[in-house]
Amino acid sequence: MTRRRDRRHWRRRQGDDPYLARARAEGWRSRSVYKLIEIQRRERLLRPGATVIDLGAAPGGWSQYAASLVGDKGRVLAVDLLPVDGLAGVDRIQGDFGDESVLEAVENWLGDGPADLVMSDMAPNITGIRAVDQPRAMLLAELAAELALKTLRPGGAFVCKLFHGEGFDEYLRALRPEFERLRVRKPAASRPESRETYLVATARKL
Ligand SMILES: C[S@@+](CC[C@H](N)C(=O)[O-])C[C@H]1O[C@@H](n2cnc3c(N)ncnc32)[C@H](O)[C@@H]1O
Repeated sequence: MTRRRDRRHWRRRQGDDPYLARARAEGWRSRSVYKLIEIQRRERLLRPGATVIDLGAAPGGWSQYAASLVGDKGRVLAVDLLPVDGLAGVDRIQGDFGDESVLEAVENWLGDGPADLVMSDMAPNITGIRAVDQPRAMLLAELAAELALKTLRPGGAFVCKLFHGEGFDEYLRALRPEFERLRVRKPAASRPESRETYLVATARKL
């Protein structure tokens, strides 16, 4: 597809997108929020008082929704390469989650307490070249899993965007012994033509 046709296709897709229109009408920062809302409806992962780390948070839809559910006694941290505009009940760290300094900042934010939920909607800039995009996406998912395994309390949960392709099965295989239950979900708001899915891993083992 040429760049111009590509742009037209993108605009048409945005214009026809019911989730985008709904997000605007309902005051959410992103259409992606409906993916988390569906996961929450099925899994009940976000609870009052919970400590939540949101990786790849910009523009902030997931954090906004998480903050509304964890309430005043909960904590939400939004991490992204891009700035996230201020949100009530949400702390923010801007930087590349692949950088050691950003990981340290996340751990400092947590302090001594564990996390109840680590969620990652991180995605690399898509080039359209699968051999480039898939390893980049898997690397982000691996970084998110490392944080989850290091910081989750026993019983805690991990949600992570994953793309079907090379490394997908191995990734699930490596995480299976760490959680009581692993599910792969494709929320209705995830575009059907996309290879995107979400891993929902619950009940972190001791
Ligand atoms: C699909 S968007 C997230 C949307 C978000 N869940 C929401 O509801 O607003 C993916 C995000 O991942 C971020 N991202 C990609 N690579 C990253 C990295 N290495 N470190 C931190 N954030 C990253 C991008 O900047 C982008 O904002």
